[in-house]
Amino acid sequence: MAVDADYLHSLVNWNQGSIGPEIFISDEIYKLEQERIFGRSWLFLAHDSMIPNPHDFFATYMGGDPVLVVRQPDGSVKAFLNACRHRGMRVCRAEEGNTRSFMCTYHGWTYDSAGKLQSVPNQEDAYFGKLSLEDNGLIQVAQVDSYKGMIFGNFDPTAPPLHDYLGDLKYYIDGWVDHAEGGIEVLPGAIKWTINANWKLAAEQFAGDTYHATTTHLSSLLSFGPGFDAKDGAHVSLREGHGESFLFERHTRFEDDPLGQYNEEKRRIARERVGDRADMVANFNAFPNFSGLPGSANIRVWHPKGPNKFEIWSFTVVEKNAPEEAKRAQQISASFTEGAAGVVETDDGENWGMISGVLEQGYQARKMAWNYEMGLGTEREHPDFPGEYHDSFFGEAGQRGFYRRWLEFMTTEAWPVIPPEERNGTADAVTAGSNTGGAR
Ligand code: FES
Ligand code: FE
Repeated sequence: MAVDADYLHSLVNWNQGSIGPEIFISDEIYKLEQERIFGRSWLFLAHDSMIPNPHDFFATYMGGDPVLVVRQPDGSVKAFLNACRHRGMRVCRAEEGNTRSFMCTYHGWTYDSAGKLQSVPNQEDAYFGKLSLEDNGLIQVAQVDSYKGMIFGNFDPTAPPLHDYLGDLKYYIDGWVDHAEGGIEVLPGAIKWTINANWKLAAEQFAGDTYHATTTHLSSLLSFGPGFDAKDGAHVSLREGHGESFLFERHTRFEDDPLGQYNEEKRRIARERVGDRADMVANFNAFPNFSGLPGSANIRVWHPKGPNKFEIWSFTVVEKNAPEEAKRAQQISASFTEGAAGVVETDDGENWGMISGVLEQGYQARKMAWNYEMGLGTEREHPDFPGEYHDSFFGEAGQRGFYRRWLEFMTTEAWPVIPPEERNGTADAVTAGSNTGGAR
């Protein structure tokens, strides 16, 4: 079956709440995603706090491509393909660090921290001075920009600015990163592990699937509750493909321990600064593969590694000005719940892996459309909260919005600009005003 627009439209009927699971297993669709999704989206690279000093670098991926993110001497950030122009060897084999140059360990070509080719062995007696250093620098990521310390890159020079791409998600991100004076920082030590499943299963879950938690995570919730139900929150789907869910009131775990007490105090201050948003964001996904659980002090990237494999890179986020003991306690708590062996995280990985096993072996199962109908037709506008708003903590609007955008990227030759009349377009107005009213 040719992977063309007609075929993809036949699989992704987002507006009727129906998705054909071939998009989670097809090799051809995965290959097209590398070009159309990961080659054109703004992808999370790192946080400012991970590369604070000149020549600091962090090695990550944009889709399947390895990239280096490097702080420049003037404070700006560049990103380039971590692949040597000579034979494509990885020029940097470390995960992070500080260096003024990257020497490829195959034949010794050496690049500076801006990606420019500095020197090659035998430039005079083998290349006879004919090799252009200027023309053989590392391939630059076309656009790099940041929002509130979060650095993103885009391989497509024609993509609209990051600010537009994030759209109304900025309003919700602000409610989280502006919690406290000084903003947030990422603590050292990313946790990375592999799941044998398609990356979209994780991304769509973070775009809106809180429904799974009361079943999948029942034992965790019973251990350190309190639990929650549909009426305890709401969810929002944003036209840009982002989605999120939020609780009206967040309960503190372990109220008696120092972290619980710190979180209570933090919430009180946050509420003064950003109103209802202080308590709210439970989970979000920024299209396509950057997600977070702000209430659990966690952000993560779903790096695709094939149609049936992805890596989770999980980072702990804390208020920059938090006391050291609170940061440490938060890191332990985040690892305990959302780390590779976390009591919450392992539940999700098992589901995703089992689903992918069914698709990998099955024939009938691949033909069966999946149901994404929850909350269809119940959307409304909310005066304080931009986006397609739904009066339930459980819903699938975020997932439908994700696949709507996915389909646009996958079936459009030019960069899929959203018509202005379709954009929610209220985030800036709401941010400028004061949101201290009730969410309901
Ligand atoms: Fe890098 Fe040859 S592959 S120097
Ligand atoms: Fe989960």
